[in-house]
Amino acid sequence: GKVRAPTHIISTISDDRGEEPCYAGVPMSSIVERGYGVGDVISLLWFKRSLPRYCTHFIEICIMLCADHGPCVSGAHNTIVTARAGKDLVSSLVSGLLTIGPRFGGAIDDAARYFKDAYDRGLTPYEFVESMKKKGIRVPGIGHRIKRGDNRDKRVELLQRFARTHFPSVKYMEYAVQVETYTLSKANNLVLNVDGAIGSLFLDLLAGSGMFSKQEIDEIVEIGYLNGLFVLARSIGLIG
Ligand code: ACO
Ligand code: LMR
Repeated sequence: GKVRAPTHIISTISDDRGEEPCYAGVPMSSIVERGYGVGDVISLLWFKRSLPRYCTHFIEICIMLCADHGPCVSGAHNTIVTARAGKDLVSSLVSGLLTIGPRFGGAIDDAARYFKDAYDRGLTPYEFVESMKKKGIRVPGIGHRIKRGDNRDKRVELLQRFARTHFPSVKYMEYAVQVETYTLSKANNLVLNVDGAIGSLFLDLLAGSGMFSKQEIDEIVEIGYLNGLFVLARSIGLIG
């Protein structure tokens, strides 16, 4: 019988018309046979291409490192309250996810946007930070409730170490580190946070992998894909 009405939507990402579903043209059986991981699936479904292993490994590290950060953060708080109020898994999950935003986990895209713009325009960290201050905008990717200059975020350190070893260039991340050096001279809580580390390093991934045109990088940064990494990652912890 008729099991599918003709669609009004054309997807260039995923295709279920053949024997098996394809992700960006790659059949499910190849994904399994080639031993692909979740980083490969993300690169097919979000970026419509197979990225080199160091990139997909980096994506997987981001997901693992951001999967949870204790019960005190806004997302976990809401999920726990909702679950204890007797609600189901999906309701509990989304009540936590809805707190992801500019102050919690959702600063990755803005960090990428502002760091890219400042670096590409050749602004010194001083010029960049002071221009943000004049505009009354907090520097996305900088600042943390509990992390300090003398108590850095281990996740940031781990991401930096991986990228310094495996990425061909980490120029955007080094720029973010210079910005952090300047902000730390103003206040001890103004560290580079995990959103800022992922945002700047993703710029290095996009620019250094040779897999994206300049126009594609601009589009990815403008549209904003990268908060999705935190949403995806933290869903793991919230479900737990
Ligand atoms: N840029 C400039 N100044 C800042 C910044 C920043 N990013 N963050 C804090 N400050 C300064 C401000 O002067 C602020 O004073 P104000 O309230 O008058 O603006 C002062 O520090 C103290 O700010 P608080 O709100 O008390 O700092 P708190 O520790 O509560 O905030 C937070 C932490 C929300 C992360 C903050 O630093 C911020 O908004 N950062 C930018 C957004 C961001 O990167 N969010 C992602 C965080 S990482 C994560 O959630 C996984
Ligand atoms: C997190 O990953 O949830 C945190 O970095 C946010 C926080 O406030 O600690």
